[in-house]
Amino acid sequence: MGTEEQTETGGVATASDTLTITDNRTGKTYEVPVEDGTIRATALRNIKVNESDFGVMSYDPAFMNTASCRSAITYLDGEAGVLEYRGYPIEQLAEHSTYLEVAYLLVHGELPNQKQLDEWTHRITTHTFVHENVRSFMQGFRYDAHPMGMLLASVGALSTFYPDANQIKDEETRYLQIIRLIAKMPTLAAFAYRHNMGQPYVYPDNELRYPGNFLSMLFKMTELKYEPDPRLERALDILFILHADHEQNCSTSAVRAVGSSQVDPYSAVAAGVAALYGPLHGGANEQVLRMLRRIEKKENIADFMQGVKDGKERLMGFGHRVYKNYDPRAKIIKKACDDVFEVTGVNPLLEIAIELEKIALEDEYFVKRKLYPNVDFYSGLIYEALHMPVGMFTVLFAIPRTSGWIAQWLEMIDDSEQKIARPRQIYTGERGRDYKPVSER
Ligand code: CMC
Repeated sequence: MGTEEQTETGGVATASDTLTITDNRTGKTYEVPVEDGTIRATALRNIKVNESDFGVMSYDPAFMNTASCRSAITYLDGEAGVLEYRGYPIEQLAEHSTYLEVAYLLVHGELPNQKQLDEWTHRITTHTFVHENVRSFMQGFRYDAHPMGMLLASVGALSTFYPDANQIKDEETRYLQIIRLIAKMPTLAAFAYRHNMGQPYVYPDNELRYPGNFLSMLFKMTELKYEPDPRLERALDILFILHADHEQNCSTSAVRAVGSSQVDPYSAVAAGVAALYGPLHGGANEQVLRMLRRIEKKENIADFMQGVKDGKERLMGFGHRVYKNYDPRAKIIKKACDDVFEVTGVNPLLEIAIELEKIALEDEYFVKRKLYPNVDFYSGLIYEALHMPVGMFTVLFAIPRTSGWIAQWLEMIDDSEQKIARPRQIYTGERGRDYKPVSER
């Protein structure tokens, strides 16, 4: 490989040159191009023992070291703790932008001018209603149905209401589905919540902004007009911004893989919701709350931390596969906590969380392993302060992630290098067996 100086880039491949591979089975040498620090797995197929050989494959369960696409949407450097959407640092977006503007940025690649933003906002605002039959079938769920299961089913069902959604190569038609998806996710999510609460569903209020309308659909009771507290609305908007995209994570990869079959975007997004539903992906903030409740008071922290260091359990909300530094989203959420608690009163669990963080950031066990707070460490505390039941936590993640999923889906559809996702396997089963009638087995 070339001698270009390599710096630690936190999982971001960069340098280009060639790789020389000698196949010790045949003694032959191959030169494989390296582009952006990456070789093409198909280049390995030229490495064969003989003409009839299939060629070398790469084996990579869980895609630990495989780039599945080229993407210009989200940049993430886990070593440095950097996260950017379309090149804009997450800190600046969280401070100055709104979720709807960020959704525009993710989908279009550029920040909108005022006219574009007004048009985008207007179109999304006027697509928040769902067909009445969506409401009726949601009412058919059991009284205690998990809201994430309801969201998964109902977003998938939207494809049956918009059959033109399968025209994914038609730019105008697919743009309409993007608007509908971003607009209707909060409505479906709020209906699922109200269903759980045994309360009547609340229709969208188009005079409110995106997060305020969501709060209205969740919490409006008998008042003629729901007036969201601007501080809570802003905190929710920030949480939406922080969760909007995170490059090729499990749910985004699911959306891309399912979307690569050229199915409609509602079905592809349903796959994303399904992936996010899993406890290894969207569910850690719930575990943080359970942990804080169990610790109960500051005096119990020392014992708890000893148990973590002895390997009895994990400090939930700490550590990340990619971030080996403070998760930039966690820093912003921690700040947002103050604004929310100003309105709702301090959650006593916050004190425990802050103390845990303080100890962990100084303790050799955590320092040595580069374990820092991740996005889930403080988000559950805010959701709880907003009176969200834990079942809604992942739903609150899915609403904004829809813009990321859909931006990634669009990028995939327009990428001439992409085809239907179809991995290879290493076959480990039996071969050539003769069928025996059941009486002879
Ligand atoms: N508490 C205590 N020790 C930990 C923790 C933790 N939270 N996380 C990792 N470690 C230790 C682990 O025991 C191991 O130690 P050793 O080398 O002595 O065996 C070392 O750190 C490396 O851990 P790992 O499990 O190999 O790391 P990973 O990259 O496979 O796991 C993780 C990443 C997020 C699953 C893990 O850090 C974890 O379980 N954290 C708690 C759960 C959590 O907060 N998850 C939310 C992730 S952020 C949400 C998202 O972006 O989707």
